[in-house]
Amino acid sequence: MADVQLGLTYDDVLLVPRRSSIASRRDVDTSTCLTRRLGLRIPIVSANMDTVTDARLAIALAQEGGIGIIHRFMPIQDEAAEVARVKRPEEFVVRDVHTIGPDCSVQEASAKMSRSEVSSLLVVDHDETLCGIITTRDVLLEQNPERRVADRMTPRDQLVTAPTGTGLEEARRVLYDHRLEKLPLLDQDGRLRGLVTTRDVMRQAGHPLTARDAHDRLLVGAAIGAVGDYMERAEALVEAGADVLVVDIAHGHSEHAIRATHDVKRRFPDIELVAGNVATAEGTRDLIEAGADGVKVGVGPGAACTTRQVAGVGVPQLSAVMACADEAERHGVPIVADGGIRAAGDITKALAAGARSVMIGSLLAGTEESPGMTVVRGGVRYKVYRGSASTAVAMDRLRRERPEEQLDELAAGVVPEGVESVVPHKGTLAEVVHQLVGGLRSGMSYLNARTLDELRQNARFVRLSEAGWREGFPGTGNESMP
Ligand code: XMP
Repeated sequence: MADVQLGLTYDDVLLVPRRSSIASRRDVDTSTCLTRRLGLRIPIVSANMDTVTDARLAIALAQEGGIGIIHRFMPIQDEAAEVARVKRPEEFVVRDVHTIGPDCSVQEASAKMSRSEVSSLLVVDHDETLCGIITTRDVLLEQNPERRVADRMTPRDQLVTAPTGTGLEEARRVLYDHRLEKLPLLDQDGRLRGLVTTRDVMRQAGHPLTARDAHDRLLVGAAIGAVGDYMERAEALVEAGADVLVVDIAHGHSEHAIRATHDVKRRFPDIELVAGNVATAEGTRDLIEAGADGVKVGVGPGAACTTRQVAGVGVPQLSAVMACADEAERHGVPIVADGGIRAAGDITKALAAGARSVMIGSLLAGTEESPGMTVVRGGVRYKVYRGSASTAVAMDRLRRERPEEQLDELAAGVVPEGVESVVPHKGTLAEVVHQLVGGLRSGMSYLNARTLDELRQNARFVRLSEAGWREGFPGTGNESMP
């Protein structure tokens, strides 16, 4: 029998610190790429699982500088609609503006402002033509409550306005130059069509790392399978504006995954294509030769996976990442380390081992924005997280595709390789990502790495004994102390 190689995973190793001239974690750059041509500002990709990535989570993650991959466990048109939702221009314009008529009384204006919790109302006549603006300051000291709004407002000719279609940058400039809080947007006939507020512009500015395409829209990816409707799905997703497609099946080193990769790349040569999952250099090479611009690595490390128990197959993730990254580097193609990230330190280890980004499921499933159902147990909030090869996902698919009377028989035939569970509710995606990227930045500064390229170059791993591993947790060895 051939030699049995040792396979290592994240918990088996640590990165050795080295002399560092990095004074602050802010001085490191986490920019990377998901595929040959698709850059990211942070190396985080959300898993294409039905309890992890829909449009809402993808939007939140792109705003932090990463990318979400919309899952495929839904009809084609629904997945395309999710992609289109992310690609919609970011809404910094208020469409539903609070207004009042010029002939209303100051008292009515005051009541409307306090009811709507706003500090001003735009004054428009019957056909929405802007007449002026009235603010709380205008009404506060007014002695005659019956006075007309038109007699108290700041009139139109003293207001700064902008045409509809004004972009974010231009709106920001006008607000800044004129020291304004509100900028009404008007059509050619002077009718009110929207409002830009300083607060909304600042909210956009609160995401300095946002991952955008050439047209300033958020980045998003979408998953397709390797059999059945995958080509039709790919067409709809490309049409909806997906920046990257992910050929995603459990055994990516299979003839049909290789064929699907080849066919999709040939049909859409300009779309960035990730294929997976594989865990070997040969699998990586075959997918790249078939046309993959990025390779997804991981067989069985995921938090909801049972492949290794059910099928007896897999490669511990750190070894898989190292082997696949070595091969992929030769072709100038990045790999995504998919699954098994249980703490921020695992991200640093994966990237140091050669991955260009990590795909995360369970750590993002507990965020406010994930599509998983919220459940409360013992007063604590959790969210449902389920493996894509779990019985629950398989049954949902069968319910969509097969008649009711066949379900019992079909259910008996399912051999799941994943489980359904719950994960603690952890707050917003921005908060979770802040912690994960903060950990990565810290790891980079320990290794004197200003970039992720330097992290790989400077990385030296040390293997852990069981005692060494235990030593890394708070309280280890001190349990008997007061
Ligand atoms: P984490 O550990 O981040 O892993 O939750 C997410 C990745 O797990 C994979 N995945 C599965 N693997 N059976 C498996 O063997 C499953 O049912 C399953 N569901 C998800 C997938 O690669 C995902 O990105």
